[in-house]
Amino acid sequence: MTTDRSPMPKAGVRRIAVVGAGYVGLPTAAVLSHHGHMVTLAERDERRLEILRQGRSPIVEHGLEEMLKDGMSTGRLRTVRSAAEAVVGAEFVFLCVETPQSADGSADLSFITAAASEIAPHLADGAIIVNKSTVPVGTVGLIERVLGRADVVTVSNPEFLREGTAVADSLSPDRVVVGADDREAAARVAELFGDSGAPVVITDATTSELIKYASNAFLATKLTFINTMAGLCEAVGADVLDLVLGIGYDKRIGFEFLRPGPGWGGSCLPKDTAALVAISNAAGYDVSIVRGAISGNDEQMRRVVAKIATAAGGTFRDRTIGVLGLSFKANTGDRRDSPALSITKMLVAAGASIRAFDPTVTTADADQPDLAHVTVFDSAYEAVTGTHVIALLTEWQEFRWLDYSKIRGLVANPAIVDARNLLESGLVHRLGFSYSGIGRS
Ligand code: UDX
Repeated sequence: MTTDRSPMPKAGVRRIAVVGAGYVGLPTAAVLSHHGHMVTLAERDERRLEILRQGRSPIVEHGLEEMLKDGMSTGRLRTVRSAAEAVVGAEFVFLCVETPQSADGSADLSFITAAASEIAPHLADGAIIVNKSTVPVGTVGLIERVLGRADVVTVSNPEFLREGTAVADSLSPDRVVVGADDREAAARVAELFGDSGAPVVITDATTSELIKYASNAFLATKLTFINTMAGLCEAVGADVLDLVLGIGYDKRIGFEFLRPGPGWGGSCLPKDTAALVAISNAAGYDVSIVRGAISGNDEQMRRVVAKIATAAGGTFRDRTIGVLGLSFKANTGDRRDSPALSITKMLVAAGASIRAFDPTVTTADADQPDLAHVTVFDSAYEAVTGTHVIALLTEWQEFRWLDYSKIRGLVANPAIVDARNLLESGLVHRLGFSYSGIGRS
């Protein structure tokens, strides 16, 4: 135990440590300091820390840099390298560390347990540990065992923010979920997020941990459903965009999360669906619907490759594909489990060459290992030059406003596969391109 001599903050203002300045930790720290709390953010990666200290955000996230700067200039947010230092005197400690996927699909908890053992001796008496990392059921108990501190309560508080809109999602969440056997501690955690008006679900730790997986598995299943319907639309000559309108006006179905695409990806949906299958297997229960959503997603990416093959004339030999978009969705620079990269890998394995452009990737990033199979360019026009098919794989709005008549003059063959249904098909048709969207002609 460490004694803290810093002054007590004002009433309602809490001293909070956030461990991990990643996609969850950064918005969490920024938003908590925005709510007026005194936040210490621990990040052990020197490069990230340096970027933060220069007043910049290490990730592309709308509004985050301004909020971080604001927190730092008012003194409500400070950064340190060690988690042990950050937790000294903190009433609440948020664990926002990575839980990568292990070889068997389960979540790798080594970062969580390492963080817990590092902070254990430095925690203030009666501190509340808040786990925001996505973890299998039972992890709150595991953290408590690693901490070995009877005076410290651990609470589950899953994070539902989306990349690209993380700040807005954190400021006005749809709901706040807090799980703990100690309901009073859970209620104290819920209070930290200010009066957003969001409903608060207070439950036990196991249910709270499962809520996160169930949410992401539901969303993934919804996406595989609409992508499957898009394939059916193509098979029978229907239009999936009208189909979404026709089903979405039913309030029980709604319009959200029903945009057909090249398949779902990112750092959460693939990892969390695999982890839910692993959790179920371990419990002797079969979540066949989630397994179906995963295999349907793999199938969707193969369908996109088949579309590109057709547009390329049935072969990838001596064919160059111009790829627009590499991040897993628009408005983020994150390429983890990006469908665009899964698809480009399949294209290269089939013999194609790839020229690619993404607004968050420059030629200076060309040596990144995940980009080894593509050649990146600093402009969309350069990337598509001399290509046989343009494959639009990420829905960056700027791709809508490219000069397609200029592009018509740059490509070797005028064919577009629009895996995000982003373009006006009539316009590119008129310019002489063949066009193939998802679930529509
Ligand atoms: C997701 C969850 O939405 C969020 O609640 C959770 O906290 C983390 O995982 P995120 O990974 O940021 O968030 O991305 P999201 O916007 O959900 O998109 C996931 C994938 O689905 C992306 O590949 C995206 O392109 C795809 N998608 C999403 C579609 O193909 N169509 C849609 O209508 C929505």
